[in-house]
Amino acid sequence: MKEQLLKLQDEALATIATAPDVATVQEMRVRYLGKKSDLSIVLGGLGKLPTIDERKAMGALGNEIKTAISTALDAREAELGKAELTARLNSESIDVTLPGTPRERGHLHLMRQVQTRLEEIFIGMGYEVAESREVETDWYNFEALNLPKGHPARDAQDSFYLSEDTLLRTHTSNTQIRYMLEVAKGRTPVKIVCPGRVFRRDVEDATHGMMFHQIEGLVVDKGINLAHLKGAMQEMMRGLFGPNAKVRLRPSYFPFTEPSAETDVSCPFCNGTGCRICKQSGWVELGGSGVVHPNVLRAAGYDPEKVSGWAFGYGVERIAMFAYQIEDLRHFISGDMRFTRQF
Ligand code: PHE
Repeated sequence: MKEQLLKLQDEALATIATAPDVATVQEMRVRYLGKKSDLSIVLGGLGKLPTIDERKAMGALGNEIKTAISTALDAREAELGKAELTARLNSESIDVTLPGTPRERGHLHLMRQVQTRLEEIFIGMGYEVAESREVETDWYNFEALNLPKGHPARDAQDSFYLSEDTLLRTHTSNTQIRYMLEVAKGRTPVKIVCPGRVFRRDVEDATHGMMFHQIEGLVVDKGINLAHLKGAMQEMMRGLFGPNAKVRLRPSYFPFTEPSAETDVSCPFCNGTGCRICKQSGWVELGGSGVVHPNVLRAAGYDPEKVSGWAFGYGVERIAMFAYQIEDLRHFISGDMRFTRQF
């Protein structure tokens, strides 16, 4: 029996030493020490030994062998475990120098960018940015601007009425009146630009929308005339389109200005030499302007005998379309990222 036991021990120790991984060591624990192991079976024969001394001696040897095998298993398992951990740490470690997954960053919509640019140009000339309301009363949107009820020019700005007396403003000119009455209150000079949304019952197409943006300008002071308007417009266009931009005023009609002018700028695409965009004229139209009508000053609490002013109101989409060569105004509110991402 002794030889049998020692042989089992040698075999076991030799195999344990070559176990390739922790899982195998765990299997070996069952194979060499479990109830069905050769060792258990051999030791099961203890009772058949002839003398008590022999049984004691073989029993003790059996225990020594169990301890030896168990110690060898523990040692091998610890050794392999450490190696496996090291290997795992090496293979699973995070390479902090790898580039991460980029997160998409939002940015300002083109309309906001152009509006901010326009505001900056005017802030640089000492203007204040003023805003007022989109839901307006008939009086601020029309009446105070020398557009009494029944005036034919009201038809040019077909409106969304919310009640008999309130409507979505059709232009930013309501801010002229609100600023003069509520903020300036008779003080001069008034120098403001008023950006904002306006609403008209228009059929939507490439150049018309039911909602669009305007930027209004207003200056009121002693001795203000059309030349001051032209100078300010010149500055604005140079700021927008570069130092070669030229401005031209063409006679026009608005109830709230007299004289009134359409403002043209030299075509930013061909520098005024004539192209498809400007229909070979060399000029593109930006919007209305003029010398503030005495009735408007009066309605806003100013004495037209003492002060005068100029005003303009341009479409911001229109300006952006010229500045960025955009052919359809509907792109601005389409929400199509392929459009917005370009700017
Ligand atoms: N409010 C006018 C419009 O929307 C534009 C304008 C503003 C004209 C100021 C003259 C002076 O058509």
